[in-house]
Amino acid sequence: MSFVQHLVSPVDGTTFPADELQSTHKNRPLLVRYDLQRAGQALDDVDFTERPSNMWRYRELLPSPSEIISLGEGMTPLLRADRLAGTMNLNHLFIKDESQTPTGSFKARGMSVAISMAKSFGVARVALPTAGNAGGALAAYAARAGMEAYVFMPADSPPTNIFEAQLAGAKVFLVDGLITDCGAIVREGKERMGWFDMSTMREPYRLEGKKTMGYELAEQFGWSLPSVVVFPTGGGTGLIAMWKAFLEMTQLGLVDEDELPRMVAVQSDGCSPLVQAFEAGADFAEPFLNPQTIARGLRVPSTIGDALALNAIRQSGGVAISVKESRIREWMRTSAQLEGVSMGPEGATCVGAVEKLRSSRWIGKHDVVAIFNCAAAQKTPMPLDRQPPTIKRGNVDWSLIEATNPGDQ
Ligand SMILES: Cc1ncc(COP(=O)(O)O)c(C=O)c1O
Repeated sequence: MSFVQHLVSPVDGTTFPADELQSTHKNRPLLVRYDLQRAGQALDDVDFTERPSNMWRYRELLPSPSEIISLGEGMTPLLRADRLAGTMNLNHLFIKDESQTPTGSFKARGMSVAISMAKSFGVARVALPTAGNAGGALAAYAARAGMEAYVFMPADSPPTNIFEAQLAGAKVFLVDGLITDCGAIVREGKERMGWFDMSTMREPYRLEGKKTMGYELAEQFGWSLPSVVVFPTGGGTGLIAMWKAFLEMTQLGLVDEDELPRMVAVQSDGCSPLVQAFEAGADFAEPFLNPQTIARGLRVPSTIGDALALNAIRQSGGVAISVKESRIREWMRTSAQLEGVSMGPEGATCVGAVEKLRSSRWIGKHDVVAIFNCAAAQKTPMPLDRQPPTIKRGNVDWSLIEATNPGDQ
């Protein structure tokens, strides 16, 4: 049973039927609208905890594909991070650990819904540009659906992403350029190759999948919300999707309007187009020139979701903030060593953002703060800080072992 009514363009309110394959309108994303009154009634007797522990437990708030292509995505842990919080004089810090998702990143959520819908519409061949993680996720979900996948990623993408996409049988191409150059190739090849463009926000359903992060967060907080949600922002889909979920939840009566969190979009100062637009009071972001960051998911110089992301930040009373590129590795180390959470460089920027916003008192000591670790550190292999000492078999040098401090390596 689907409660989807139609798709709508936030640009001019034009609506589009949901029973046809759709992409964009005026080169901007379309959003899925539901009959929330009927969905709310249907939810009256639902106890989510009795449903399987994955994101499809929110099926009334998702589209209804003819077959759900799933790898068990969703219901990732919400971890308290008390030791990390202690370093910032903060009482309540939580990490939503999306690294524990199929394919190791939150991209699985969007792909599960988007591939399920594409398959329902009879699509057999899909393509996308990616900073890396979405390519791995597309490859896996396309494989599970029996579809053909083409993945275009910057040539300097993390080897893990190239490996995982190839392993799942995608046709992978390395592009001498940025994700935006990859996107141009996918659009150019549409007619010639007959593929469906799965670029984020160029089809409406990846956003719906990512939206479930918002529903889960509320459920895990006992159907309330933290006061601040901090998200590493590249294309903006995650942030836009969660804000959409929160607004839907108020209409469904699942959470109160005065409980809505302030949304914080975090970018590296090596690529911060949304921060620049936010600070300039602009509705759209200018492309960021010469973007450079080890957080590859955040190396997105321009996005068609800019207006929606800026709107979500402003409507929530939030902020877009950049953190120092040179400190990302330090925040990764701090999270792993204080909390045992393997934070990718993207998620680690959120630690820097909370630190900065706590220092300026934008975040208060009693705020309840949720940050997102969108992928594990292992997905972005990096040179070692130090080469570990080598031990000779049969002639162990114990003085070397005794002299080695934890964290040295
Ligand atoms: C690990 C990671 N974090 C954050 C992002 C940014 O997400 P979004 O494009 O939804 O803003 C990405 C996107 O590639 C990512 O891979």
